[in-house]
Amino acid sequence: MDINIFEGVKTPFYYYDKALLEQTLDAIEACTAGTPMKVHYAIKANSEPEILRIISARGFGADCVSGNEIKTAIECGFLPENIYYAGVGKTDEEILAGIDFGIGCFNIESLEEIDILAELASERGKQVTVALRVNPNIDAHTHEYITTGLKENKFGIDLRVLDDAVKKVKASEYLDLGGLHFHIGSQITISEPFKILCDRINELQAKFRLDGIDFRFFNVGGGLGIDYDNPEENPIPDFATYFDTILSSLHLKEGQEVHCELGRAIVAQCGSLISKVVLVKKGLDKNFVIIDAGMSDLIRPALYGAHHKIENISAVGKPADKVYDVVGPICESSDVFGKDELLPETQRGDLIALRSAGAYGSAMASHYNMRDLPGTLIR
Ligand code: LLP
Repeated sequence: MDINIFEGVKTPFYYYDKALLEQTLDAIEACTAGTPMKVHYAIKANSEPEILRIISARGFGADCVSGNEIKTAIECGFLPENIYYAGVGKTDEEILAGIDFGIGCFNIESLEEIDILAELASERGKQVTVALRVNPNIDAHTHEYITTGLKENKFGIDLRVLDDAVKKVKASEYLDLGGLHFHIGSQITISEPFKILCDRINELQAKFRLDGIDFRFFNVGGGLGIDYDNPEENPIPDFATYFDTILSSLHLKEGQEVHCELGRAIVAQCGSLISKVVLVKKGLDKNFVIIDAGMSDLIRPALYGAHHKIENISAVGKPADKVYDVVGPICESSDVFGKDELLPETQRGDLIALRSAGAYGSAMASHYNMRDLPGTLIR
């Protein structure tokens, strides 16, 4: 990381490496060109307008979970027909906005929502395409807060009432059943859960075919994980294995598409949270590096126990032979980025990079303690 470009930029701020983002998008395109795979970017991971514009310029779709995300996606160049709208609790205003913008698909999460959407669509006199989000009851082997496809999660329609849901959609002239939607969790670093998901989709496809029901697409959701420990060695996720697993496991019929909604895998590695050391506090048992970024800027460590690689980018090349706890300034004991971190001798004023923070970093920042939101530098 060339710290000269940070000269004069007020810390803390998110730095995004544009070239790496472009290379990541190149890698996705290389794997999906000429296949039935359509990629939708999950905007919740990072909704910086410049980042959205870079991604929309590739012709990707957008996965949105709020009316504001839909509006921002359109402002940043995503075509309405490529915008898919998911969420367990869409408000009437948000649904109507989606209908009025002419978005491509509503991912429905419950029987109740089918009625609400049908009613609002009939109010507008417009037919809308829907996908039923199925809860496939698959363990994604990830953190319990970010696993979504288990029976006990609030997401999706239980397999046992999926037949009823399909009938309900078919019964409304205002709803057009486009496909089935799934999302089993996030930060999934093994292929097995995706393979099991595809097997489940094949079973469902075979079953519904017998009933004379065909789907135009299957949406496998997002979830591909990244290497938080080694951002330098693995800056680009293993897209080849991910897409191969899905494309080779699914038994797609002629003309059927498969959609995915990647968030983290697209933007995580291109972003770092850059902060400055306020002071180094020498304790009796421990030494603390206190930085000017806190859990209000990057909440993942406090919320999920996540670890972002910590680098003293002012002391590159010096031996990492000192042990520190790296903490933020916020009045919460969970405002800790790393315990017993091996770093070079660190001083007041040094710049510290928290790596792999492009996804769910700035997007989850808050004003807690009345702090300013972190800044942005995209280069
Ligand atoms: N599709 C749906 C329906 C989702 O709920 C999500 C993420 C995605 C796609 C994108 O998943 P990804 O490819 O980014 O794994 N804040 C947490 C992650 C929450 C993920 C929520 N849903 C974190 O910082 O780890």
